[in-house]
Amino acid sequence: MKESFVLNPVSPNVFISRGSIDRRVRESLNKHVSKVFWFTGLSGSGKSTLAHLVEEELYQLNIHTYTFDGDNVRHGLCGDLSFSPEGRAENLRRIGEMVKLFLDAGTVCLTAFISPLERDRQRVKEIIGPQDFYEIYVKCPLEVCESRDVKGLYALARAGKIKNYTGISAPYEEPEKPDLVIETHALSVNESVKIIVQFILGILHPDVR
Ligand code: ADX
Repeated sequence: MKESFVLNPVSPNVFISRGSIDRRVRESLNKHVSKVFWFTGLSGSGKSTLAHLVEEELYQLNIHTYTFDGDNVRHGLCGDLSFSPEGRAENLRRIGEMVKLFLDAGTVCLTAFISPLERDRQRVKEIIGPQDFYEIYVKCPLEVCESRDVKGLYALARAGKIKNYTGISAPYEEPEKPDLVIETHALSVNESVKIIVQFILGILHPDVR
């Protein structure tokens, strides 16, 4: 088996190892390319719900997927980080690096993070590679997200018991040029899933049916 070692230009004495089984080989085994679909939106806008339902549909088509969810990642890999601007930036940087590995593994990645700031989303896009990154804006008015309040966190934020809460005491910047916008207050869940799945299939062109 051919293996090559490339010097990392940033950290001296740290090497990058590459085997002959690379991303293209894995994609060809999977019969589809790997891409990242980055869902962004307020808490309660429907990011996680849609990402998981979209994943179910893609699974039925034999597409290899993984869904990354804000709440889950913050229990483990990013359990040490707060919701300060610095904490969120580092949260998203780590996630970007992790997702990049899954992309290399040939996996179609669906991510559900609030990712409220344009500059942090742009940074993640750079880490992953702009050609592999598609931004899906899960758009929903704050009042609707707040009225859903599935986790009861908006009420706590309004009562001042949670600091830096997105939409209440911390900003959410709308994406400047999203690849897809889904208005979850205007569409049913099924309609939203259908639109996203069609969008993703149009990019993956899977050879799996
Ligand atoms: S992000 O801003 O860094 O992208 P992330 O998506 O990982 O956020 O986590 C968001 C989830 O953490 C929310 O869905 C909510 O359940 C929970 N959460 C707890 N505290 C906060 C807060 N201050 N702001 C936003 N979400 C919070």
